[in-house]
Amino acid sequence: MGTSLAAGLLESGAISPENTMIANRSLGKAESFAKRYPGVTVFESNLKVAEGSDAVFVTVRTDQLLGVLKEISSAGKGVHVVVVNGAVPLSVLEAVCKCPVSKLIPSVTMERGRGVSLVSHGPSVSVSRSRSLERSLGLASKVIMVPEDRMDVATDLTSCGPALIAEMMHQFAEAGVRHGIDRKDAWEMVLETMQGAALALASGESVASLKERVATKGGITEQGLLVLEAELPTVFDMVMDRTLAKHAEVRERLMKDIDP
Ligand SMILES: NC(=O)c1ccc[n+]([C@@H]2O[C@H](COP(=O)([O-])OP(=O)(O)OC[C@H]3O[C@@H](n4cnc5c(N)ncnc54)[C@H](OP(=O)(O)O)[C@@H]3O)[C@@H](O)[C@H]2O)c1
Repeated sequence: MGTSLAAGLLESGAISPENTMIANRSLGKAESFAKRYPGVTVFESNLKVAEGSDAVFVTVRTDQLLGVLKEISSAGKGVHVVVVNGAVPLSVLEAVCKCPVSKLIPSVTMERGRGVSLVSHGPSVSVSRSRSLERSLGLASKVIMVPEDRMDVATDLTSCGPALIAEMMHQFAEAGVRHGIDRKDAWEMVLETMQGAALALASGESVASLKERVATKGGITEQGLLVLEAELPTVFDMVMDRTLAKHAEVRERLMKDIDP
């Protein structure tokens, strides 16, 4: 995720390579990223990065997060820590790293300059810091502010979203394959159609209007829509029940280990 986020911010011009410092446990990974963006500096220590920065993005896994936050806590209140993790409450994050913290749930599609960045600020983040973060993220994505208690559901829509949508498209194409279309052609048909439909909807056309323009009364599309309208609400509720249960399980496990 750190790679997608940094690439998105650099590619969009939100940050310049000369003002970007990175660290990673395995240094080689950071060094090969820096080769892609001449000017980016690699440090061996997370603390050194935090000490030299106005804002630092922490993109380690949940089980590594608190260790890294403790490590950078001596950087002090001068640094705005942006944590890419929804599991730990902001109040705990701020207590552990003793500085202003925001939560960010980006999308891997950010490296293409698209997708949503979900943001929630902790109580000690100043207005100027929050605006500066939102402005930078806004150059590479659509920024949506979310109250912390809605972050899990929003994450399912935007951050899990690309994978869920990819699977939906795959299954649509595979149905075409099972009914006689060549796999490569079926995928191209679905991919292009998805992009066309997304552009129509993004230009302001409503779902109802697009459905109505395609599905004439008593026609063929209507038969397909009848199936989807009957089955998909249950399917998506099942998807969200499972993902939300997993969010809760991860949070519960983590909170047991927390000793700020
Ligand atoms: N929003 C999204 O779409 C999305 C997608 C994926 C992940 N995420 C979130 O992003 C976070 C990271 O997940 P990921 O999939 O990117 O994990 P990952 O591929 O394992 O990357 C974690 C990185 O952190 C480095 N690291 C671990 N401990 C470290 C330490 N103490 N100091 C410095 N670097 C350290 C690892 O270094 P090594 O190279 O040594 O392993 C690795 O490069 C998680 O919270 C995850 O939930 C979000």
